[in-house]
Amino acid sequence: MSIDLSTSYMGLTLKNPIIVGSSGLTENVDNIIKLEKHGAAAVVLKSLFEEQILMDIDSKRMNNIFDSYSDVENYVGYYTKQHKINSYLQLIKDSKEKTSIPIIASINCDSDGEWVDFAKKIEEAGADGIELNIFILPSDTDKTGQEIEQVYFDIIKSVKAVTKLPIAVKMSYYFSGFANFAKQLSETGIESMVFFNRFFSPDIDIVSKKVGSSNVFSTPDENSMVLRWTVILANKLNCDIAATTGIHDGEGVVKNLMAGANAVQIVTALYQNGIGDITIILQEIEKHLEKNNFKSVNEIIGIANK
Ligand SMILES: Cc1cc2nc3c(=O)[nH]c(=O)nc-3n(C[C@H](O)[C@H](O)[C@H](O)COP(=O)(O)O)c2cc1C
Repeated sequence: MSIDLSTSYMGLTLKNPIIVGSSGLTENVDNIIKLEKHGAAAVVLKSLFEEQILMDIDSKRMNNIFDSYSDVENYVGYYTKQHKINSYLQLIKDSKEKTSIPIIASINCDSDGEWVDFAKKIEEAGADGIELNIFILPSDTDKTGQEIEQVYFDIIKSVKAVTKLPIAVKMSYYFSGFANFAKQLSETGIESMVFFNRFFSPDIDIVSKKVGSSNVFSTPDENSMVLRWTVILANKLNCDIAATTGIHDGEGVVKNLMAGANAVQIVTALYQNGIGDITIILQEIEKHLEKNNFKSVNEIIGIANK
């Protein structure tokens, strides 16, 4: 029996539910070609940071003011950032040319500053969507929850004003009323939410007595929080959900789809087991569906949530 693994995510048709999440795995075209070969249905490119884009804008202003840079160090700094931005756009173009899977660009941001115009360039370069990694740890004691939530609305509004690309918002879970906030956000016209952003987890080295960060890689038990919020919200939001964090195998993918996710994003498992793991995970999904008499991925999306 052949199983239809395809799914629809942020208005895009994916050949299966596995998206390779934003990371070092998606920062060069050769790797993206390999990811496609092993079965990835789409990739989210490594994030470009808001500061990198703003630097580029500043460098152009500097160019207008001065005939030449007086400060060589500044020049080198600006050149490096500008180069990063140009190479990001080139990465989108090359990936579109050399693969046939959707390419989702990613911006890591915490304000709706001038950087948003860059979303237009991302669209012109041929990306299929934009993932906004709105990265705000609510650590400012002077900021209220409402002020922080407003930043999300402002960013979405500004980005939507310059591009027609589908937008996914990679979410944090640090909100006092997450369900209500997520519902409101889903009504802004975004196409998807990604549950969740993975902040660096703090750890303390008891010898140096310094705060550092623990593992950048996830463990499967971290997925339970994603499952919780996907089950709670999947039927209530006006947008898709992509589940990410702690999904390491076929069983993990099936669980998150059953919870109501339209697709999943995987990173750690591919760093740890190699990108060939995508093929294995796809086989595991297919096997599970076949054994349980399902004919398609669509049949299981949200099935644990009905
Ligand atoms: C080495 C590494 C680099 C990452 N870089 C980014 C990034 O640039 N932007 C982003 O949104 N997420 C980034 N992430 C987070 C992943 O996209 C993903 O959300 C997270 O690792 C959880 O998925 P996992 O459990 O499959 O690893 C990175 C993760 C790793 C391990």
